[in-house]
Amino acid sequence: MFDKQRLTMGEFIIANQESFQYTSGELSRLLNGIRLAAKVVNHEVNKAGLVDIIGAAGETNIQGENQQKLDVLANDKFIQTLKNREIVCGIASEEEDDFITINSFDKQHQNKYVVLIDPLDGSSNIDVNVSVGTIFSIYRRVTPVGTPVTLEDFLQPGRNQIAAGYIIYGTSTMYVYTTGHGVNGFTLNPALGTFYLSHPNMQFPETGQIYSVNEGNYIHFPQGVKDYIKYCQMEEGDRPYTSRYIGSLVSDFHRNMIKGGIYMYPKSSKAQNGKLRLLYECNPMAFLAEQANGKASDGYQRIMDIQPTELHERVPFFCGSKKMVEKAEEFMSKSK
Ligand code: AHG
Ligand code: MN
Ligand code: MN
Ligand code: MN
Repeated sequence: MFDKQRLTMGEFIIANQESFQYTSGELSRLLNGIRLAAKVVNHEVNKAGLVDIIGAAGETNIQGENQQKLDVLANDKFIQTLKNREIVCGIASEEEDDFITINSFDKQHQNKYVVLIDPLDGSSNIDVNVSVGTIFSIYRRVTPVGTPVTLEDFLQPGRNQIAAGYIIYGTSTMYVYTTGHGVNGFTLNPALGTFYLSHPNMQFPETGQIYSVNEGNYIHFPQGVKDYIKYCQMEEGDRPYTSRYIGSLVSDFHRNMIKGGIYMYPKSSKAQNGKLRLLYECNPMAFLAEQANGKASDGYQRIMDIQPTELHERVPFFCGSKKMVEKAEEFMSKSK
């Protein structure tokens, strides 16, 4: 009864198809393909603990991280689904060394979109039953249709994104995405296997009272970040703020978008560019943030204006409620 009153995600995509810049139906098919893979991954994540899919896979990815079994499984499921449906010409993933070219004999590189993906975000939370996610980003290729994709198609600034989103495997599973016309969130009814529009037009509150940062790294942070953290903790006006850090970007972002807050993964004396990946994590989250009236910055400039130079490049990340990100930037530039 409850669900009958709500649009399903499939209905919503069709209803909004006209607003897409290009209306070949390819983007709709792509968003639906990701939805299908998300359901499969959701099913696997829910079984973690019962079947042998938690723990390390025994391999290291190109980022130097120990891959978890679910990192590998989610990566395989997303790539497989997108390959089978032949809707993209290329995929780049956090878990793959290089981008993957997708082509079938009859298609002759006719597909127009590339997908960049963080198949499983927050891997360290898998074994302990805490929320994880998937992040994706979609661009139109810049090289001519009919030729194989090249690195250039993937190294586009975030402002060129056509769509971006995440799936959060939380207390409930949600698919949140934007095609440049606001942000909408859909919740999975697990009994029916259907996503329903539950959070239309999501917006970051202008300001908030939550700051999310791995404070264990405090000693290694730049002075501007240290000063901003002290500012968050000061008793004045609506401060001190509350500190909340899950260690899964998707979950921290999702909470802050609903409640109002700032997420930070700054550079440190140990990691000159921070940890988060520009292409798979920062750009898609930045697009969502801006579409939801929030802001995303590297501390000095807009994330989506950065020209990427390599697939797995990292960048410092400050994202969330506009006023809070602006305040953090103010502290950063003071101590420059
Ligand atoms: P991933 O699991 O995709 O490698 O990403 C982990 C990221 C991000 O989700 C999270 O916010 C951050 O790493 C946590 O890092 P720390 O443990 O260093 O705080
Ligand atoms: Mn990882
Ligand atoms: Mn991640
Ligand atoms: Mn990941």
